[in-house]
Amino acid sequence: MHDELRRMEELTKLLDYHSHKYYIESAPEISDFEFDAMLRELQDLEAKYPEAADPNSPTKRVGSDLTSEFQSVEHRFPMQSLSNTYSMEELGEWIERIVREIGEVEFVCELKFDGTAISLCYENGALQRAVTRGDGRRGDDVTNNVRTIGSVPLRLHGEGYPSIFEIRGEIIMPYASFDRLNAEREAAGEPLFANPRNAASGTLKNQSSQVVAHRGLDCTLYQLAGDDLPYATHHENLEAARSWGFKISSHTAICRSREEIEAFINYWDVERKNLPYATDGIVIKVDSYANQRTLGSTAKAPRWAVAYKFQAERALTKLISVDFQVGRTGAITPVANLEAVQLAGTSVKRASLHNAEQIALMDIRLGDMVYVEKGGEIIPKITGVELTMREADSKPFEYITHCPECGAELVRFEGEAKHYCPNQSDCPPQIIGRIEHFVKRKAMDIEGLGGETIELLWQNGLIHNIADIYSLDPIKLAALPRLGEKSAANILEGVRASKDVPFERVLFALGIRFVGETTAKYLASHFRTLDAIANASLEELAEAEEVGAKIAAAIVDYFADDTNRQIIEVLRGAGLRFVMEEKSLRSDALVGKSVVISGKFEGRSRDDMKALVEEHGGKNLAAVSANVDFIVAGENMGPAKRQKAEKLGITILNEDEFMALIAGGNQATTKQETETKELPKADKPVQGTLF
Ligand code: IVH
Repeated sequence: MHDELRRMEELTKLLDYHSHKYYIESAPEISDFEFDAMLRELQDLEAKYPEAADPNSPTKRVGSDLTSEFQSVEHRFPMQSLSNTYSMEELGEWIERIVREIGEVEFVCELKFDGTAISLCYENGALQRAVTRGDGRRGDDVTNNVRTIGSVPLRLHGEGYPSIFEIRGEIIMPYASFDRLNAEREAAGEPLFANPRNAASGTLKNQSSQVVAHRGLDCTLYQLAGDDLPYATHHENLEAARSWGFKISSHTAICRSREEIEAFINYWDVERKNLPYATDGIVIKVDSYANQRTLGSTAKAPRWAVAYKFQAERALTKLISVDFQVGRTGAITPVANLEAVQLAGTSVKRASLHNAEQIALMDIRLGDMVYVEKGGEIIPKITGVELTMREADSKPFEYITHCPECGAELVRFEGEAKHYCPNQSDCPPQIIGRIEHFVKRKAMDIEGLGGETIELLWQNGLIHNIADIYSLDPIKLAALPRLGEKSAANILEGVRASKDVPFERVLFALGIRFVGETTAKYLASHFRTLDAIANASLEELAEAEEVGAKIAAAIVDYFADDTNRQIIEVLRGAGLRFVMEEKSLRSDALVGKSVVISGKFEGRSRDDMKALVEEHGGKNLAAVSANVDFIVAGENMGPAKRQKAEKLGITILNEDEFMALIAGGNQATTKQETETKELPKADKPVQGTLF
């Protein structure tokens, strides 16, 4: 037994050592196979002696599939943001101001990594906690996910680190991991991440650390915080941190003048294109902590640091042709086919052109040399034409007048820039698009029915609309080319299982214009049944949270259509859920109560507070009215709201009082089974004190 415990310690040390060699130094000394063998040996020993397993064991790098709600925790040192500039002139003024205030100083220039900020807390050399930036004062504890990132040291080596300190940096997703992830998601029919930054922050908040472990995140550190850091300058502490096992960028420089800083910026503005990860600027920091203290901070950002942001990367390439895609709603999207060009780490061949107006406005012509940029979206956009390179015989672009798929004449709706194909019932991409939308993962989640299969079924006359999915003939299905009995059985099983999909997803799956996932949720929880939505008036619809006039009109239009009504009746007959399921409640504390959540809260987000209201049987209302039983007020609740509440004599609770109230409820089962509980109604305006 002692030998085995000693072996656990030994394996832990060996695995830590080899992780560092692999992830930080990129110089592995052993094969992946040998590494995995040691890891497995340690896993087995930990299973045998769970009490001796270390929370920072290298085995935690592989993650687990336990979902964890992220706790909100306070930062010991707030995480500030940086002031930005895009102009060298402004940067020059910033430098001058500093020199005026404290004389000649040394600046450290660093890359601005484009990921998501993280603060790692270490105690006695072991990783204690990893917290996201959040609002700068509080963030989410994502330690289990961060432990899976190979370049984050779980235990420090070397010496001289303070017993307690924090180190801040950026979690990034290198282009290689990003491309692999999106390729996998595309193959699985899942929505793609728009850029590595979104992918990094999305991954960090994933509920399963096992998933995180496979996404290939990286972490680079650029700031220390603590009461007893070993050195008096930023760069010396970073060098020390490197020796403790952290990944610290070597693409930094100490600069003493505006010229040196500009040279660093100009160099990296070009050279960053060769880096394997995204950067969006250069951060310039005053090196000495004493000088940093003298300069101090504004409410949001330190005065001793600034970010110079690069102009979005753009590339010049030739416009070969334009395709017109028809979406499930009939909307026409022009897409440019380009001569392939390298842009921000990937090869670009297609770009969005938005609509006819945009094309006319920029006077984009076939054969033009055009500028492409990556914005927040997945596909890059054309931002301009290089007129000096235009061919003499080029002609203005002529936008199509008829649908490229079905030949119907295109229409334009008032106030909308896009053209639409009005032929909803017979235009193939619209029919197929609606069915694809219906079966996708976030909607009915019917496995086995991908884009190609749907097209196959449609071409063979097996489906014409979403309702036909529920009367598929097993024999005809299995007889289709490329399908076979096994796939057919798989599809039919998926169809059967979809009957258990909750109402809010069924509502989303219908594909009503503008009713996305979130709107569907709001509608479902407000109206509770499909019939209530179908029969609601424009005004009643617009009363539901997040539903504006445009969405309300689209809903009314949808249900006014006979074909849609027929389809809905078939779906009802098939047994789809048209009624909101009553979830089991955590307690009955708020049953029958209407609550307004207002302002910002210490411990939770507003959405979390609203979820709590529902989980304890209450109903969320958006506006203060006589129907409201009480208000939970966070920081900065609007004065008008407060006044109105006081006038109506509505009780106002603070966050702690609200938490105490829900903690006092009885464990409940379902919403229907519980009766309304009386909440003491204020007989005169009360503020905060209920108990
Ligand atoms: S220092 C008080 N250094 O940029 C200064 N930030 O726009 C704290 N960032 O939230 C930040 N690279 O997520 C610093 N070399 C770098 C950085 C960097 C990227 C991010 C960081 C911060 C954001 C501010």
